[in-house]
Amino acid sequence: MRRKIVAGNWKMNGSKDLAQTLVGFVRSQAASLDNGVEVVIIPPAIYVGDVVESAGDVLSVGVQNVGQWGSGAYTGEISAEMAVDQGCNYALAGHSERRQIFGESDEVVAEKVQRILADGLHAVVCVGETLQEREAGDAEAVVASQVQKGLAAVAPDQWQRVVVAYEPVWAIGTGKTATAQDAQAMHASIRNVLSEMGAPADEISLLYGGSVKADNAAALFAEPDIDGGLIGGASLVAEDFVSICRSVPASI
Ligand code: PGA
Repeated sequence: MRRKIVAGNWKMNGSKDLAQTLVGFVRSQAASLDNGVEVVIIPPAIYVGDVVESAGDVLSVGVQNVGQWGSGAYTGEISAEMAVDQGCNYALAGHSERRQIFGESDEVVAEKVQRILADGLHAVVCVGETLQEREAGDAEAVVASQVQKGLAAVAPDQWQRVVVAYEPVWAIGTGKTATAQDAQAMHASIRNVLSEMGAPADEISLLYGGSVKADNAAALFAEPDIDGGLIGGASLVAEDFVSICRSVPASI
């Protein structure tokens, strides 16, 4: 059965205090979650150590980005190996903010995915179309291409550590969410693409992201191909994030 995952991407938000209080609260509540969801906290890298400490062995921790290199003269970057060293087991790759603001191409995303997987982390690979691409009727083709290129070099024994997050760019931080039906249709299409690539598509968790809130999570997570969510803004509010974690049905 596929893993059910709710991951909170703090982006460039948070503090040492939030790493203690919010994560401590989520950890205390996670103990009573009976839906089998894996909860992942993805803070800015500078707070990873604090979050790992607060998370204990109840929550998983990830980084938002890694360099595509092993180690060396890359001022300002952190490596996947360092994330492992600090106790992380997840890393994002290809978030639309990295693609748009930092100019990351599909090729760079693929290199980062390789690093993440080679060093033993789970890769959460983000894909999604812009509003313009959706309105032009190109959404499925754009997303399929991002999946094919970003995951081009995944080895057969690495698929079990691949997670794909579908995040329509127009839904991120805007308050606009894809309807559960539209999100489901794209997830089914992504699963199809993965299958065509020779991946064990039915075993790969597909997360939805983009303005997931406490009041719309349950409808999204009820869809058969939506295995959880990647949560931005709402992951910074402890009660909301826990409520989203509770919205995952017991069996997907
Ligand atoms: P949002 O962000 O929930 O604030 O829309 C989601 C994301 O970018 O991962």
